[in-house]
Amino acid sequence: MHSNNVPKLVIEGNGPLKGSVVASGAKNAVLPILAATILASEPVTLHNVPKLQDVIVLTDLLKDLGAKVEINENTVVIDPTSINKIRASHDLVKLMRASILVLGPLVSKFGEAEVSLPGGCAIGSRPVDQHLKGLEALSANIELKNGYVYASTTDKTRLKGNHFTFDMITVTGAENIIMAAVLSEGQTILENTAQEPEVVDLCEMLVKLGAKIQGIGTARLVIDGVDKLSGGEHTIMPDRIEVGTYLVAGAMTYGDVTVNQCNPIHQEATIEALLETGCGVEVGDDFVRVYPKATKLKAIDIKTQPYPKFATDMQAQFMALATVAEGKSTIIETIFENRFMHANELSRMGANIRIEDHMAIITGIEKLSGAEVSATDLRASAALILAGLVAEGTTIMDQIFHLDRGYDGIEKKLTSLGAKIKRI
Ligand code: EPU
Repeated sequence: MHSNNVPKLVIEGNGPLKGSVVASGAKNAVLPILAATILASEPVTLHNVPKLQDVIVLTDLLKDLGAKVEINENTVVIDPTSINKIRASHDLVKLMRASILVLGPLVSKFGEAEVSLPGGCAIGSRPVDQHLKGLEALSANIELKNGYVYASTTDKTRLKGNHFTFDMITVTGAENIIMAAVLSEGQTILENTAQEPEVVDLCEMLVKLGAKIQGIGTARLVIDGVDKLSGGEHTIMPDRIEVGTYLVAGAMTYGDVTVNQCNPIHQEATIEALLETGCGVEVGDDFVRVYPKATKLKAIDIKTQPYPKFATDMQAQFMALATVAEGKSTIIETIFENRFMHANELSRMGANIRIEDHMAIITGIEKLSGAEVSATDLRASAALILAGLVAEGTTIMDQIFHLDRGYDGIEKKLTSLGAKIKRI
């Protein structure tokens, strides 16, 4: 049965966006950093924490474990010293896959952990074998039973450092093993480690608390285990995917948009793709500006790959752009097997998209038309908003809980740039 009370987003095509915005703290950095507070032996203060549903889920999980959590606007103080539970139940994990991030910290700090196995999700099957293999390499015993991972050390002693090479680049997998290794006995060497900026932000936070990590930002980390971590303070990095989303919004509407207080280095692959569309890009120390240079955007060819290459989390937004660019674009998705669900919704707005395995072939059309669409996942919801901004007529998007998981105040920010977008 349909309820009329479910919130929806109404988007009207309203011409070029103009002005400047600032992105919030990064979702994919704050989640591992919140989990890392489990390792501390004193309170940790985090600044620039975005207001997101996923942050609420993870702080609820920390509270459920016994931590004290105080949230005051964008500052969150976590006191992990009262943690008295090592079980993350299915009720909480099912709300957010990233809850698996408490596994490494719990087993490292307490010698045991029980975490519900996250299932597959809308964008793919998403196994966690690397998380488990890495913990086993650090001497944890792993058992899978009744849908839970049971990880423990013999006699609840510390984990033991080791040499471990990831079979593939995994972001949260790397984060779990880094968090486990910082309190392990001896040295851990991690190879083929994810180099995403969010992994770097986590490492920098851990170092502030006393962790010894060398090679931060490279694929090879050398971690010398310490007995304990102190408390401390950390400011969460700006959300590079949010930054990229606003840049695409500027480009698609032939507007002039500057995103301030960001790290342009994180935007290199996005900027390269934007330049390929023919728009102008200006880069400063801490801002990126996009502005129109041609009367028509050009087709693009992109392929998602681990950082510093083109991010899978920007793929849907560029697909939205490609639907109205001149010519034939191709997008190859190599990270997740099922991350093209936005294509169907964009097609309902008139887009011409053909999917062949891991490739989407998009033939640009003159104009999309507003439609009722459903957000199928977080980045799909961003893509549909972008499409709505340039469509003829009104677009109404439901399932917007996906949006609230990862975009802090996107309607407000886009409205400040001149978009016509409201929640009903
Ligand atoms: N994989 C395995 N085994 C593992 C781990 C990963 O086979 O043990 C595979 C995955 O199935 C996938 C690939 O490796 O095909 C990469 O997955 P990864 O582990 O890197 O993804 P993740 O850590 O689960 C994070 C972000 C995602 C982002 C991906 C890729 C967080 C909380 N999530 O997921 O963010 O798309 O990295 O960059 O950091 C989003 O924000 O919308 C989002 C989905």
